Amino acid sequence: MADRTVPPALNRPGPDRFLWTLDKFTSGMEWLHRNSRRNHPPARPVDRDIPLVVSEIQAAVDEVVSLRLTDPGGGVLPAWQPGAHLDVLLPSGRKRPYSLCGEPGERGYYRIAVRRLADGGGGSREIHDLRPGSRITARGPRNAFPFITAPRYLFIAGGIGITPILPMVRTAAARGADWRLVYTGRSRESMPFVDELRSLAPERVWIRPDTEFGIPASGAELLEHAPRAATVYCCGPVPMITGVRVDLPGSGADSLHWERFSAPPIVGGRPFDVELARTGIRLRVPADRSALEVIGEAVPEVPYSCRQGFCGTCHVRVLAGAVEHRGRAADGRMAICVSRAADRVVLDL
Ligand code: FES
Repeated sequence: MADRTVPPALNRPGPDRFLWTLDKFTSGMEWLHRNSRRNHPPARPVDRDIPLVVSEIQAAVDEVVSLRLTDPGGGVLPAWQPGAHLDVLLPSGRKRPYSLCGEPGERGYYRIAVRRLADGGGGSREIHDLRPGSRITARGPRNAFPFITAPRYLFIAGGIGITPILPMVRTAAARGADWRLVYTGRSRESMPFVDELRSLAPERVWIRPDTEFGIPASGAELLEHAPRAATVYCCGPVPMITGVRVDLPGSGADSLHWERFSAPPIVGGRPFDVELARTGIRLRVPADRSALEVIGEAVPEVPYSCRQGFCGTCHVRVLAGAVEHRGRAADGRMAICVSRAADRVVLDL
């Protein structure tokens, strides 16, 4: 397991700190590979399509828009809890999960916030093209990141990872819990909802842009802000979550609940071949890429959502070949976002 001593070099940006952080990340990935498991049960599917209309769009910060979604007839929307998300079905047929980041208990509208990803799969660009009056359909809400009641919390958010954390912070504040928030990002200008968060209790919120503090914070540095025996909620980029997971023991915090928005790193991957039976297309999946990524280049309309193996959107029927399952697909299907094959697999695609 990684050394948990925090060297003095951590107190300043610089090459020592960079090398130490790199070493920690590598050690952390090895540790996570050995100990990897989801820290919460998978979200149960909610077979409920909700027609919604975009009633308001605001530019939260550069490249991030905040959308208010309402019932077209002005009706009350299904209830949700902090950590919940909607699966948004876009006009193109793409399906994407977005955390609900509005006021918990608000039934008159949902709020989501989306960062435009120039190199993403097109879902965020499509959201940014929506206009007031645009109609969409959503499925849910469902919750894969449940918020538990505790006396003390440390919330850690990176960038757009603030979206599921924000309603948790509001709820903790409303309950009178002892809480702290550490909010990191590339720059202050890229971090949505800073003013809204600071208005809750400025003394409990630490805004930490990389442009003002040097390279990204280590897990230990983020955890320094935890009240004693705090329950930690963390959402953001994979290296940040990895650092927090590695440094949690010995930090004084009690437990960690985390959610990432991106695909997990591929650990122990080997190359394999994929054949798409409907078109006869044959593809080679390298050791460091997912089948979904590779198939998506040949078949851009291939559906996906979570890219982490739990939502079921990308599941494809397997016609031949042995699958190394890393997601929850069963009944002869393969979660192509995370699962791999021993040698060659033929898919009904
Ligand atoms: S995209 Fe969700 S299981 Fe593959």
